[in-house]
Amino acid sequence: MNTKKPWGGRFTGTTDEFVESFTASVQFDARLGEIDARCSQAHAKTLLHAEILNQAEYDAIVTGLNQIIVDIQADRFPWDPALEDVHMNIEARLTQMIGEPGRKLHTARSRNDQVASAFRVYLLEHGDALQRALVTLQKALLAQAEANIDTIMPGFTHLQNAQPITFGHHLMAWFEMVERDVSRLKDWQHRTNVSPMGSAALAGTSFPIDRQIFKDAMKFREISRNSLDSVSDRDFVIELASILSLIMVHLSRWCEEVILWISPAFKFVDLPDELCTGSSIMPQKKNPDVAELVRGKSGRVLGHLQSLLLLMKGQPLAYNRDNQEDKEAVFDALDTTAQCVAAMQLLIEGLEPNREKMLELAAQGHPTATDMADWLVRHDVPFRTAHESCGNAVALADSRGIELHDLKLAELQEINPAFDESIYECLTLDGSVRSRRHPGGTAPEAVKQAIAQAKLRLSQ
Ligand code: ARG
Repeated sequence: MNTKKPWGGRFTGTTDEFVESFTASVQFDARLGEIDARCSQAHAKTLLHAEILNQAEYDAIVTGLNQIIVDIQADRFPWDPALEDVHMNIEARLTQMIGEPGRKLHTARSRNDQVASAFRVYLLEHGDALQRALVTLQKALLAQAEANIDTIMPGFTHLQNAQPITFGHHLMAWFEMVERDVSRLKDWQHRTNVSPMGSAALAGTSFPIDRQIFKDAMKFREISRNSLDSVSDRDFVIELASILSLIMVHLSRWCEEVILWISPAFKFVDLPDELCTGSSIMPQKKNPDVAELVRGKSGRVLGHLQSLLLLMKGQPLAYNRDNQEDKEAVFDALDTTAQCVAAMQLLIEGLEPNREKMLELAAQGHPTATDMADWLVRHDVPFRTAHESCGNAVALADSRGIELHDLKLAELQEINPAFDESIYECLTLDGSVRSRRHPGGTAPEAVKQAIAQAKLRLSQ
């Protein structure tokens, strides 16, 4: 309350206590502290080059900020909510430590370009870490897929038995989703990797600074092109939240499958005890809580995306304080997604497929009816006629409670005279799966190739 505000020159009254705590952000933006200090060192370099700072002042600032970084890392930096945010806390502390040179640091900048810069760097660094975690997840998927190249399971459409597939192929479908997620993060990084510094409050600065110096020091790809846009743009936050949302949608879909598969109705997979929890009342229960939580947490991340979109939609140019609300949403979205990716990694590694159960269900519901129709087409029957004949065969088998391969050849020939003995080979699950051996198909041979190509892409 009684802390002197760095912006307090035009004020005579003190800030209302409620307003002070209402406007403070340091409780959540302190996590930008180390990066904000590094940005300030880079800005000091710009000021040295423009002869706004002399060498001694520059050295004092850099040394002071190094000490601040050490204090932040050691969790002993004295954050003060009365100093509002991370930026003013660090500047005030620096001035307390080194005196006058600290009071020169804010020349040619504003908190508006300061926060835009530090926030970008923070998100870019975390984007890198998330990409690495996703690649590790992909490796876990590859290992499971490799172990299940010829594990036959039912493939579903409408959650109805459709056609037999291999479990390896199913896992590689998940792999593809992650590959798109990683590529989206890369695209986002390219657009986000732009330095706003030098835009100052909104209109740029009257000091003769070289914006390239800060850009190079903070390893940005290029400098931004419009000062108004630079301080007010939060597309990079929204885009990231949308990428995170899509990652969570993917993980949530996988979890939905794992939850179904582990249920007694399917029993397709088991998970080791370490990854499950029990019920406080029902002693027999072994629940897939980790998967359920990942599915549940996806809602949280999707909600943050909505908050961020709504936060921006009414804002006139340039900076508005509304933007302070962007941090908690995206920080939580990032933390949650990173946690869920790690949880998913454990689940994938822990999956123990039950081959017998998968095979048993894969055989139900005439899953090779399409193979039967394809066989007729290869024997000069137009596809629509073949489809109809096989539909008749399915109805006949159903009326007797038997499978297609239990029908006698004579019965099949009555439906369509083109049938001969060789039809029975293509009615087996194994034959059906093996025949789909083109690139992208479910045959063990094709999945093996897909895995080899995926490994190659990961190594590049
Ligand atoms: N804490 C603020 C934020 O997160 C920093 C910028 C404040 N700028 C201002 N002119 N009030 O957006």
